[in-house]
Amino acid sequence: NTIENGTFQWSAPSNIALVKYWGKKDNQIPANPSVSFTLNNCKTITKLGFQSREKDGAFSFDLLFEGQPKEAFKPKIQKFLERIEAYCPYLKNYHFTIDTHNTFPHSSGIASSASGMAALAMNIMSLEKALQPTMTENYFYQKASFLARLGSGSACRSVKGSVVVWGNHAEIDGSSDLFGVAFPSKIHDNFKNYQDTILLVDKGEKQVSSTVGHDLMHNHPFAKQRFEQAHTNLSAMKSVLETGNLEKFIEITESEALTLHAMMMTSLPYFILMKPNTLEIINRIWKFRNETKIPVCFTLDAGANVHVLYPENVKESVLQFITAELVGYCQNGNYICDGIGFGSQLI
Ligand code: PMV
Repeated sequence: NTIENGTFQWSAPSNIALVKYWGKKDNQIPANPSVSFTLNNCKTITKLGFQSREKDGAFSFDLLFEGQPKEAFKPKIQKFLERIEAYCPYLKNYHFTIDTHNTFPHSSGIASSASGMAALAMNIMSLEKALQPTMTENYFYQKASFLARLGSGSACRSVKGSVVVWGNHAEIDGSSDLFGVAFPSKIHDNFKNYQDTILLVDKGEKQVSSTVGHDLMHNHPFAKQRFEQAHTNLSAMKSVLETGNLEKFIEITESEALTLHAMMMTSLPYFILMKPNTLEIINRIWKFRNETKIPVCFTLDAGANVHVLYPENVKESVLQFITAELVGYCQNGNYICDGIGFGSQLI
């Protein structure tokens, strides 16, 4: 098939890891497997316009972010295209217009690399599917996740599914270091519509880019134990997701978040990415949980913001607690209400 020009548009969500990916080998191969909840409201929406052109040695694309040309993002896209070229040899036959925006505020401290790279990968796969209409749906999504991974590791968990595993794990059928897979067994109803309220503690630029962060795990004194622990925690999390054991869910999720930060505190150079308000929030969550027995817990990304996780049936009391006690610790009182979603969507 040949195709002269056209456009596709996809939305792709952000995701929040429960068992964290931290450390990688060459070609974006994770040092340990991870599992995440796909989010629903925090998304990137990307329109890809394409026009056939005389092939030359270079990629050709324009980039619009929130409707404005954005030169600063171009090197990242260029690098992504270079990495995937071997798998998508048609890319240089087109001039692309990449028109992208996020549903969450820019520099809110919410990483947009996962949703952004996933949205772009989905669009590229739509083009590939137009060129090869016999492609199966399974191939489409698997390759989309494979390509997204080459853009940003965690992006491969933003393609399809509510709970996504990335990285080889003995007990997860079909799991792979090369792409994310939807959690293969039935997930307990306790996790249906699980809520994630993201408290924006610090909206500044990331202090440590994830590239630098993953590199810190090379020669890290605790790397070996950490990578083993991730396997153990993923095994335990698998049965938690199947049985609905919220107590154990809380224990693994919070321990993983603190371990991620512990890895940064114990690397060379070392970093503290939590802010005083991050710790205030964690302590308030612990106190509230102790007093009310409501199963609310936190997780963290590689930054100061706090994700507050809880089942849908306690939403009202948790939101009351958040607005009364936690919002004061957020920068300008900002927070985002989100919950489990389903993955990328063609618009
Ligand atoms: O996908 P990257 O390279 O931006 O790494 C993301 C790493 C964490 O968000 C800290 C953990 C994870 O598993 O998402």
